[in-house]
Amino acid sequence: MENKEIKFLQVQQIIESHEAKVSHLIAILQETQAVYGYLPKEVLTYIATAIGISPATVLGVATFYSQFSLIPKGKYIIRVCDGTACHVRGSEPIMMAVRKELGLTADKPTSDDLMFTLETVSCLGACGLAPVVVADEEVHGQMTPDGILEVIKKLKTAVTDN
Ligand code: FES
Repeated sequence: MENKEIKFLQVQQIIESHEAKVSHLIAILQETQAVYGYLPKEVLTYIATAIGISPATVLGVATFYSQFSLIPKGKYIIRVCDGTACHVRGSEPIMMAVRKELGLTADKPTSDDLMFTLETVSCLGACGLAPVVVADEEVHGQMTPDGILEVIKKLKTAVTDN
């Protein structure tokens, strides 16, 4: 069975486990996003049909909540804090270094190989460690442009080793 079919079967199981209830839509979307890493439009349409509401309604919910993404994200998410404390202590040069290294822009946050997605957040609640970056769920304080390039290098190596 192809990967695509396996994922689709998983979505069917998710819907079934929630008894196709409209009131469970958020949970269904969360679990579906965990399967795909994002919410493909055709899958949203399928979910809408399965639970008996319009695709526009499902799309509306998926676009309303920031936790959902309609575009594919990279395997590794790099979150650069750009809150006041981090901004003052140099989050901008860190972001620039990541963009340059991975060929990203403000409109293109995910690398072509789908390995990395760069996101900015407003405050990670660790201002004492500013500037802060979370890469692959790991928190790095007092980050520098060279430091983040080192982290990216390690993540790339981890992929090659697997
Ligand atoms: S501003 Fe970056 S952790 Fe608070």
